[in-house]
Amino acid sequence: GDEADLVPRPPVVTVMGHVDHGKTKLLDTIRNTNVAAREAGGITQHIGAYQVTTTLDGEERKITFIDTPGHEAFTAMRARGAQVTDIAVLVVAADDGVKPQTIEALNHARAADVPVVVAVNKIDKEGADPIKVRSQLTEYDLVAEEYGGSTLFVDISAKEGIGIDNLLEAILLTADAELDLRANPDMPAQGVAIEAHLDKGRGPVATVLVQRGTLRVGDSIVCGEAFGRVRAMLDDNGKALKEAPPSCPVQVLGLTSVPRAGDNFIVVPDDRVARQIAQQRAARQRSAEMAKSGRRRTLEEMFKDLEKGKVSELKLIIKGDVSGSVEALEDALLKIDVGEEAKLRVLHRGVGAITEYDVNLAMADDNAVIIGFNVRPEVRARELAEREGVDIRYYSVIYQAIEEIEAALKGLLK
Ligand code: GTP
Ligand code: NA
Ligand code: MG
Repeated sequence: GDEADLVPRPPVVTVMGHVDHGKTKLLDTIRNTNVAAREAGGITQHIGAYQVTTTLDGEERKITFIDTPGHEAFTAMRARGAQVTDIAVLVVAADDGVKPQTIEALNHARAADVPVVVAVNKIDKEGADPIKVRSQLTEYDLVAEEYGGSTLFVDISAKEGIGIDNLLEAILLTADAELDLRANPDMPAQGVAIEAHLDKGRGPVATVLVQRGTLRVGDSIVCGEAFGRVRAMLDDNGKALKEAPPSCPVQVLGLTSVPRAGDNFIVVPDDRVARQIAQQRAARQRSAEMAKSGRRRTLEEMFKDLEKGKVSELKLIIKGDVSGSVEALEDALLKIDVGEEAKLRVLHRGVGAITEYDVNLAMADDNAVIIGFNVRPEVRARELAEREGVDIRYYSVIYQAIEEIEAALKGLLK
């Protein structure tokens, strides 16, 4: 069943705003820890991702927060086509008011098409003017609810711990009113790397956000051009986790190299496939053409895009009944004379039914099509493909497959 598998997930919130307006202090207060005091020079060096639990109407609710270093990582992630944020909290210091970077942050949120909650911070300070912040932002079409608009403004003091519960409530109310945040926890995990670094003792360490499915210790993953098996997972307090459901940020140990912020990760069947896919990715020039929309495309739509020169590659995942037929089909497809610009790339090939992992891989690579040669999908794979709009093509005669693919590639050449 479709919708039945989708269960509510916590909102993922990015805290943005002008330098020193109190983003880190706010997250700090929310977590009731002291991250800002530990930071060199009090400037955020990297993205932190945390999950907090609060209550709304007597119900326990989680919120995932991401702390951005003055938007740079956010911009880098967007440039890679990664969208991690559901809601943006725009922090504006009430004593300083709206600044150019405040507007820049707002524009990022709008480009990402996410609702904004405004945290008017530092209300404890002398000269704080929260009303002025509201009127300043009105000029940018961000109108407070109390003035007839649709944006929730919350006055806070991150330092004094004032208004924090109101802010958490505003985030959840905004999520509930404007977004229907659901994910299927019961599939191989997919998500995005928020940050990664090489740790002397532990090797590559990546903080990833799980977006769908559940990530488990022992899973084989590909993250951008990095791959490996999840050896251990830690939450933001350093506590070991066995599994991470949707919207959960975790540090992952076990990758063989360091991925980049914004790289998508997927779980694949085993280490061999992980290495294979990672090596294929590393071998090719990264496409400058980034995924513009989250929607998948059918083969027909892709033909059109190929014709228009909007995409330069046709990506395939080939599954077949026996290895001989898979190899024969792949050989024949790769032999189609496609000229310079038009390229056909086989992301993965294998013997057996089409599985959730195949669909997972097609989803991760925006416009990949799955070819089933004398095989059918597993029920859950078919459901996932239908739900996500992944195109699966079935053939039982090699030349029919060749004809269709050739037509697509010729379309590109003319
Ligand atoms: P960057 O990451 O460098 O962009 O800064 P930031 O937005 O994370 O600001 P940060 O949390 O580092 O806070 C900057 C300064 O403002 C620190 O000295 C904080 O202690 C102070 N500050 C933050 N929130 C408040 C507040 O509510 N009231 C007062 N009085 N000071 C605050
Ligand atoms: Na700061
Ligand atoms: Mg900061």
